[in-house]
Amino acid sequence: MIQIENLTKRYGAFTAVDDITFTARAGRVTGFLGPNGAGKSTAMRMMVGLTTPTSGTATVLGRPYRSLPTPSRHVGVMLDATAQHPGRTGRETLFLAATMAGLGRPAVDAAIERVGLTTKEAGRRVGNYSLGMRQRLGLAGALIGDPRVLILDEPANGLDPAGIRWMRGLLREYAAQGGTVLLSSHLLHEVEQIAQDLVMIGRGRIVAHGAKDELLRAGGTIVDSPDRARLGAALEVAGWGPSARPEGGFVVAADAQDVARLGLTEQLLITELRSAGGGGLEDMFLQLTADDAREGVGNAA
Ligand SMILES: Nc1ncnc2c1ncn2[C@@H]1O[C@H](COP(=O)(O)OP(=O)(O)OP(=O)(O)O)[C@@H](O)[C@H]1O
Ligand SMILES: [Mg+2]
Repeated sequence: MIQIENLTKRYGAFTAVDDITFTARAGRVTGFLGPNGAGKSTAMRMMVGLTTPTSGTATVLGRPYRSLPTPSRHVGVMLDATAQHPGRTGRETLFLAATMAGLGRPAVDAAIERVGLTTKEAGRRVGNYSLGMRQRLGLAGALIGDPRVLILDEPANGLDPAGIRWMRGLLREYAAQGGTVLLSSHLLHEVEQIAQDLVMIGRGRIVAHGAKDELLRAGGTIVDSPDRARLGAALEVAGWGPSARPEGGFVVAADAQDVARLGLTEQLLITELRSAGGGGLEDMFLQLTADDAREGVGNAA
């Protein structure tokens, strides 16, 4: 289990992580989702003691990461798969990690096998690895101490569709056996496929979190009418916070039945009415993070 309480990181006047609180539970894959610059990596670095929080706490298995004896036996960490030493072979990289965890060659062989690197690949210098192979190696390093918690920053980055499917299987299986997985991504669909719980972050703040299925259900209803102006006004008056979709119509925070009833009383012709479902989650992600996306905006408050 990973517990984050009121975690904040400021760099001067700029707040990179702003008072976030959530728990990643055992037996579940928790997706940490947010656009570029949202604060995911900063938050994860604080979880593993690489960045000191301005305030708040992060504990892993009930303790601050830094106070864990032989951390890699408890928590597997992969923060930047491109940071591995290019001159070492994959096997040497893992051997160092194993040694620090007080383990030997069998752990190295097991990790290599677990992530599907071939013996030949493991013998090559990391500098010659593809991004996908680096991710596998990074995951092998995280798994080497057979930890109960995994903290992975953008682990699917650079994996092809088959690689993503493979990783999804591995992480699901790991969680099914009682492990805790926290993984970050800036791609909703990637997280949607792997995670059971979601934490959405934008501009350092949590904008939504909960069980993925509930968030999907809460995605609202899509409705459209040839008389869009009147429909929009009626939805506004009903207090359902309609947001116009680029492809037409509105997403509203209401049941389809309630929306249909509104159409009836307002004598509005409804030409589209359905649950927003997964698309709703995407709309929500885009809406919630649109104003929060920092790319191109700089650090202006
Ligand atoms: N050491 C630092 N000094 C100043 N600002 C920093 C520092 N580290 C991170 N930031 C800023 O904090 C914000 C959050 O960065 P972070 O790397 O946590 O985002 P992210 O969600 O991981 O983004 P990405 O999806 O691009 O990896 C960014 O605006 C970044 O520039
Ligand atoms: Mg990042």
